[in-house]
Amino acid sequence: MENTQNLADLGIEGLRSRVAAELARTRRRSAELTDAVDDEDLVKQHSPLMSPLVWDLAHVGSQEELWLVRDVGGAAAIRPDIDDLYDAFQHARSDRPQLPLLGPTEAREYLATVRSKVFDLLDRVPLEGRRLIEQAFAFGMIVQHEQQHDETMLATHQLRDGPPALAADPPPSDVDVLPPEVLVPGGPFTMGTSTEPWALDNERPAHQVHVDDFFIDSTPVTGGAYQAFIDAGGYHDPTWWSEAGWAYRQRADLRAPRFWWRDGDRWLRRRFGHVEPVPADEPVVHVSFHEAEAYAAWAGKRLPTEQEWEKAARFDPASGRSRRYPWGDDDPRPEHANLGGRHLQPAPAGAYRDGAAPCGARQLIGDVWEWTATDFLPYPGFSAFPYREYSEVFFGPDYKVLRGGSFGTDAAACRGTFRNWDYPIRRQIFAGFRCARTPGQEERD
Ligand code: AVJ
Ligand code: FE
Repeated sequence: MENTQNLADLGIEGLRSRVAAELARTRRRSAELTDAVDDEDLVKQHSPLMSPLVWDLAHVGSQEELWLVRDVGGAAAIRPDIDDLYDAFQHARSDRPQLPLLGPTEAREYLATVRSKVFDLLDRVPLEGRRLIEQAFAFGMIVQHEQQHDETMLATHQLRDGPPALAADPPPSDVDVLPPEVLVPGGPFTMGTSTEPWALDNERPAHQVHVDDFFIDSTPVTGGAYQAFIDAGGYHDPTWWSEAGWAYRQRADLRAPRFWWRDGDRWLRRRFGHVEPVPADEPVVHVSFHEAEAYAAWAGKRLPTEQEWEKAARFDPASGRSRRYPWGDDDPRPEHANLGGRHLQPAPAGAYRDGAAPCGARQLIGDVWEWTATDFLPYPGFSAFPYREYSEVFFGPDYKVLRGGSFGTDAAACRGTFRNWDYPIRRQIFAGFRCARTPGQEERD
C-alpha cells in the first residue's frame, strides 16, 4: 500500500490557484537565473555539455506552448516556426549556440506571450475528463519541466567562468552525530506510485518489491571521507574501479571531483564563482557514477540499488506503507530538506533532523542527487505518458538512476518516487552518493 496525497483535497478552485502559484513561482526562478547575467552571457556556450542559457529559456516556453496552449487548449500554434529549434532531439547541446535562436529579449517576450495564454486557459479548462488534465497533470508536468531546466541552468552557472552571479544564504549548520549506517530489515514494500497526481510516467505504477536486509549510510558521503579515498591512492588503483570506470578514469585523467584542485596540503574548489577550501563535513558533489562506485568498493561497501534507496526513503515499518517523502506525506518545507536553490550548496552531513526517514537515514531528499547501482529501466506495467521522449527512449543500460534531488532541485520536481538518470561518466550535475552494504560484507576500518 502507498499513501495518497493532498492535491485531491483542494477542490477545483483550490487546484487552479495552486497551479497558478506553482507556475508563477517557477517563472520567478527562471527569471532569477537568467537575469543574473548579461545578454552576451545568455547566448554564450559555457560548456559543450550545456545549452546556452537562452536556449533553455525559450525551450521551456516552447514545451509550455506545445503541451498547454496547443494540446490542452486546442489553440493554434503561436510560433510553429521555432518548434524544431527547441526540440531537444533535433540538435545536440554542443550545436545549439550555432542555431538561429531567439535572442534574450525575444525569448522573454515569447515566454510572456505563452504564459498569458496559459493563465487564460487555466481559468476555463475543466481539469477532468481527459487523462492529460486530470488533477491538472499537464500543468504539473510543465512546472516540473521548467524546474528541471532551472536546475540545468544552475549547473550551467556552476560551469561558467567569472565572478559570482548568484547569491544565497548558507544552508543550516545544525547537525547531529549519527551512527554511520542503519539497518533496513528485509521484506516487501511498495515501490513507485499509482496515486501521486503529478508523478511522471517512469515512477508508475506502484508495485511490490522484496528487498533483503541491507545497511545504508545515514548520510551522503562527505568531502572529508572522499579525500581519504584520494589520499589512499584510490584514483591510481584499478582494484576499486569497474573496467568501464577505470577506462574513463584513464581517458579523462580523473584525480578528484570536478571543480576541485590541490593547493599545497589542502583541496580547494570553485562553487558558483567562489574559490574556497573543500568543506570536510559537506556531502561530496560533482562525482561521476564511476567515482562513486570506486569509492564504495574502497570503503568495503557498494552503491545501493534503486530499490534499496526507495525502501530506505519511503517505507514506514510502523504502518507497512510507503510514504511520499522520508518524513511522511507533507510537501517539503525548509526544515525537511535542502531544495529549490534556496542554498547554493549541500548542508553538512547530519543536518535536517526533521527530514529523517523511519530507518534513521538523513538527507535522502535534497542536498545531492545520489547515484544508485541500477540501470534506468521501466517498472513492470510501465506505459509511456504523455510522450515516449520523456522516459521511454532512455530506458536501457546506458543510463544509471539517481535519486533524491539536490540543493538545486525544486520540491515540485522531487519526491520519494522521483527518478533521474544520466550517463555514468557525467559530473556537471549536482550528484554525490551514499553507500550501502549487505550484512556480512566487511567494511574498511
Ligand atoms: C530527467 C533531468 C534527465 O534534463 O534530460 C528536461 C529532464 N526532459 N526536458 C533532462 C527533461 C526533458 C531530463 N532529466
Ligand atoms: Fe526539456
